[in-house]
Amino acid sequence: MAVKKILEYGTPSLREPSKEVHKVSSKIKTLIQDMFDTMYVNNGVGLAAPQIGVNLRVFVVDCSSGDEPLKPMVFINPKIIKKTGAVLSQEGCLSFPEAYTEVKRYKDVMVKALDRNGKPFVMEAKDGTLLARCIQHENDHLDGILFIDHTTNRFEADKVMAEHNLPPVEVDRLLDEPELDKELGK
Ligand code: NI
Repeated sequence: MAVKKILEYGTPSLREPSKEVHKVSSKIKTLIQDMFDTMYVNNGVGLAAPQIGVNLRVFVVDCSSGDEPLKPMVFINPKIIKKTGAVLSQEGCLSFPEAYTEVKRYKDVMVKALDRNGKPFVMEAKDGTLLARCIQHENDHLDGILFIDHTTNRFEADKVMAEHNLPPVEVDRLLDEPELDKELGK
């Protein structure tokens, strides 16, 4: 068991794109275990490798709730191959302790990735569920994109950042999302 330090917003490496994993080696398996340990200790539902200072394309999620059995899922070299619809939701991130703000997300996604044994799989997550949103959030981390880049109100997001002693929203990172705006009737 190894709980790693989670990098906070403002750390430059969180903005760097991550590299593909070429082999699911024992080193990668240890990384995955460390990521689950770190995520569970912090009561997170997802964690991406760059958040613990490893810029590799790996993320883990567990969207089980309450007294449901744990549902750990691993995504290595993930690719979102289909995304449709739109939803608004309050989101947070372990790299932004206690800070939540409203963001735009696709409602339905299809993702392909390798599992912890290096075996390819395709998965669909629909209806704007926590899992559907979590996959998009964690996948973004691998490209240096953070949830506040999807904010619906940058001034509100800035206020939340200030309240939590986090750096302000990076205006040049805000995403232009005409497809989502159209779906949301904005
Ligand atoms: Ni995050």
